[in-house]
Amino acid sequence: MNENGLGARPLEALIDLSGQQALVTGGGKGIGQAVAARFVEAGATVTIADLDPDAASTAAELGAAFAHCDITDPDDVSAALDVAGAAGGGPDGTIDILVNNAGIYPTTGSMLEATDEFVARMLDVNVRAQFSTAREAAKRMPDGGCIINMASIAAIGGGAKISAYSASKAAVVALTRAFANELGPRGIRVNAIAPGVIDTPGVRAETAELLASGLDIDAVIAANPLRTAGDPDHIARAALFLASELACFVNGHLLVVDGGSRA
Ligand SMILES: NC(=O)c1ccc[n+]([C@@H]2O[C@H](COP(=O)([O-])OP(=O)(O)OC[C@H]3O[C@@H](n4cnc5c(N)ncnc54)[C@H](O)[C@@H]3O)[C@@H](O)[C@H]2O)c1
Repeated sequence: MNENGLGARPLEALIDLSGQQALVTGGGKGIGQAVAARFVEAGATVTIADLDPDAASTAAELGAAFAHCDITDPDDVSAALDVAGAAGGGPDGTIDILVNNAGIYPTTGSMLEATDEFVARMLDVNVRAQFSTAREAAKRMPDGGCIINMASIAAIGGGAKISAYSASKAAVVALTRAFANELGPRGIRVNAIAPGVIDTPGVRAETAELLASGLDIDAVIAANPLRTAGDPDHIARAALFLASELACFVNGHLLVVDGGSRA
């Protein structure tokens, strides 16, 4: 057994994020909020970056810092990284963990009707802004940091009427693998999570129209072999695993967390 092996570090130390600065984009609600809560519980200094000013009170309740931030705005992203660095009290404003979670998923409708403007907006938020947020974070990350990108099961099976979203999330998987190769030599691990259908405010808002036409959203959320409603904390647990030392040799991976719906 080498010096990092069994017994060298107790199990609880392997999921301890004490002393680490984490930035969670889109942490004001849904999956990002659950991730922020788990990271605070694990001892990290967490900053939530969110477009919604109401997320400030969510952050305060969790014991996290807050940065009002639209990830498509480079100045906002830079300011959020400043807040995250300062929250940790470090002199050089470094951050250790980025959870690149903020994203949008308006239903495309038929690809025959999707406008170029619609497709461009989807790619701008879900790909271009996620890319540049990771780039700027990586510049401030010490060796051994960690980036987690929020993809989707839509990346691995393009659903009807969500073509632009599927394409954007497939791009997230591709850039995750590319970043993992590039940043790996610095000890920075880059992974992605593909959530299944998770019960979040975003999902409920997006399906409001379908709900009016009789869709049973609760059935959709629990339509997996486990017959268990997808909960934001299911994704937060996976994110905690990826951020922790338990995942010290996991890099460039897409972790599907969907109750087996794509099995
Ligand atoms: N909920 C699901 O079923 C599901 C499934 C697969 C993937 N995902 C992905 O998980 C992520 C979070 O989804 P959710 O369901 O929790 O969403 P949500 O809509 O419930 O919450 C998203 C949060 O991100 C913030 N946000 C949106 N655009 C932003 C921007 N430009 N800059 C900063 N903050 C912004 C919102 O204000 C909100 O607080 C997204 O990337 C989404 O694509 C969700």
